[in-house]
Amino acid sequence: MVPETPPLPLLTPFKMGKYNLSHRIVLAPLTRQRSYDNVPQPHAALYYSQRATKGGLLIAEATDVSKTAQGFLHTPGIWTKEQVEAWKPIVDAVNAKGGLQPDGQAPVSSTDKPISFQLEGMEFTPPRRLRTDEIPQIVDDFRIAARNAIEAGFHGVEIHGGLGYLIDQFMKDQVNDRTDQYGGSLENRCRFSLEIVEAIVNEIGSDKVGIRLSPHVNYMESGDSDPEALGLYMVKSLNKYNIAYCHMVEPRMKIGAENTKFSESLLPMRKAFNNTFIVAGGYDREEGNKAIEENRGDLVAYGRLFLANPDLPKRFELDAPLNEYNRETFYTHDPVVGYTDYPFLEETI
Ligand SMILES: Cc1cc2nc3c(=O)[nH]c(=O)nc-3n(C[C@H](O)[C@H](O)[C@H](O)COP(=O)(O)O)c2cc1C
Repeated sequence: MVPETPPLPLLTPFKMGKYNLSHRIVLAPLTRQRSYDNVPQPHAALYYSQRATKGGLLIAEATDVSKTAQGFLHTPGIWTKEQVEAWKPIVDAVNAKGGLQPDGQAPVSSTDKPISFQLEGMEFTPPRRLRTDEIPQIVDDFRIAARNAIEAGFHGVEIHGGLGYLIDQFMKDQVNDRTDQYGGSLENRCRFSLEIVEAIVNEIGSDKVGIRLSPHVNYMESGDSDPEALGLYMVKSLNKYNIAYCHMVEPRMKIGAENTKFSESLLPMRKAFNNTFIVAGGYDREEGNKAIEENRGDLVAYGRLFLANPDLPKRFELDAPLNEYNRETFYTHDPVVGYTDYPFLEETI
């Protein structure tokens, strides 16, 4: 008799709230800048459905909740009727393959300090500090965007609270220099994010809400002097809302730190959070399996590897070689090249 090999931890089922996931390999949110004039395009239906599996969780790319929320060119929006309608066939294409997909997020700023560097070919306009009386409107933009996402057919929304986006700019003490009730103490800096969580939970139900956080990461100079205190404060506050999941980016994704050893860890937050915990950042097959085995997360989100391997769960199952990602086409606007033309396994052998 051939002894049965135990299933790969990443390929074991998981129940996230009311959703039965058939495996633990999640598509991380990936901005691809192919939604011309902020309208999702038909080619996104192919891109996402290529990455869909029965019972697999896909997180859509960062999506603008209003006209003022746009951070990059050709990112999708979800504040107009036209955008909501354009999302529908994309969500349908994924659902037809049995996949699940949330989304969410926004820029303006907590500050008017500009970032201190420029990247070649990219100009960063100095931000405008939101007035206290403008904040309820922004919270409401998120609420409406969440409702629109449900109308478009998404199973839920992921609030983009990480990686230097607006919510992160409020939470991090190296950006937030406000003196009103949204600045200063940890509680004050987290108020904006929690108001958004509350508004969305009340609008669509806690079981359809997730949030992405990156307390340790310092993209776009959005860093914090005490990431663990921030992460812990947030997960403990989130517990009160009973949201479906918390999705955290590993400290190793800090700028310039990807390949160095790290003493900081997401474990304290994992332990303090009551519901599903998703980890992301620098995972491969082995590291992902280890994280599940050691119970450091319930699900693992993959960015670059999933971008370049539409059939990533299959490849992990077979321990097959992976396509390499091409950084040059991450953010180009072609509807096919570097987007839907990464080969499936059967095309490569
Ligand atoms: C092309 C590209 C676009 C990304 N866009 C987003 C985004 O829209 N929102 C977000 O939270 N993270 C974004 N990220 C970060 C990824 O979600 C992920 O956290 C990161 O790539 C680390 O995971 P990995 O090592 O599996 O790639 C992006 C990453 C890449 C490579």
